[in-house]
Amino acid sequence: MNDTPSQWLRERTPEDIECQQVLRQLNRLPRHVAIIMDGNGRWAHARNLPRVAGHREGIESVRDIVKASAELGIGYLTLYAFSTENWRRPEAEVNALMRLLEYYLKAEVDELDRNNVRINAIGKVMALPKRVQRVLKRAIEQTANNTGLVLTLALSYSGRWDILRALQLIALDVRRGKLSPEDISEELFASYLSTGLLPEPDLLIRTSGELRISNFLLWEIAYTELYSTETLWPDFRRKEYYAALADYARRERRFGMTSDQLHDNQRASSYRDYLKELFDTLIQRR
Ligand code: FPP
Repeated sequence: MNDTPSQWLRERTPEDIECQQVLRQLNRLPRHVAIIMDGNGRWAHARNLPRVAGHREGIESVRDIVKASAELGIGYLTLYAFSTENWRRPEAEVNALMRLLEYYLKAEVDELDRNNVRINAIGKVMALPKRVQRVLKRAIEQTANNTGLVLTLALSYSGRWDILRALQLIALDVRRGKLSPEDISEELFASYLSTGLLPEPDLLIRTSGELRISNFLLWEIAYTELYSTETLWPDFRRKEYYAALADYARRERRFGMTSDQLHDNQRASSYRDYLKELFDTLIQRR
């Protein structure tokens, strides 16, 4: 890790700084944001471009959302970059996605490191081409001691795969006598998932208007707030992200309780409404 001042902070416009200030004042930023990045193909199709052009432009969105998350002090960002099902795509597209992933990691790792971002991966990483595995391993090792944003890339990942893998690991530990079946609680089960060290996502964003979970973080999203936008991933930049965060900030997360149990401070919630209005005005002005 390197303690030089963040280059990212220097690039920000005054309007952006103002938006981020208002978002912070809402005092309800999610700790963990997960994103299903969808719509790259449609973005390219609308421009008569090959699908890979959509993925390439999608990387620019990844860059912007990672930066904005780090600047806002969000703790965890998890991106669904390649699902188990994505292996079924045409070979040329799979190869292009792998090359883009390798390119992104190589090109960004130093800047991510300078900005205290820690890179993490979930999924069947061993299924990725060796070159990608090597670059990924290096990026994870280089940023392992960073204490800022934890950027988790879901690669060859599916929620059901992870649940089955956790079950197998638990069964092995039972067979070895390390665990007894009575020890298996929700907490213990969650600790065997590949997300075991991450908090559960507070907000799950899906771009391109689809209303599906697509086998992402199935166990972990039990209480997660969902946000869907028509915007295609290559067009999803920080302004759209801020709108999602402001929407989340307004919501009441009850975790099964009643509204009255939670409403300890009505004034705080009106103040949040006021800030949200201010924020919407700022967004429109940009
Ligand atoms: C879904 O769009 C997107 C993907 C399957 C891949 C997402 C990958 C990137 C944004 C680039 C690489 C990622 C990182 C983290 C460097 P789609 O192709 O299904 O779009 P469509 O539904 O419009 O066809």
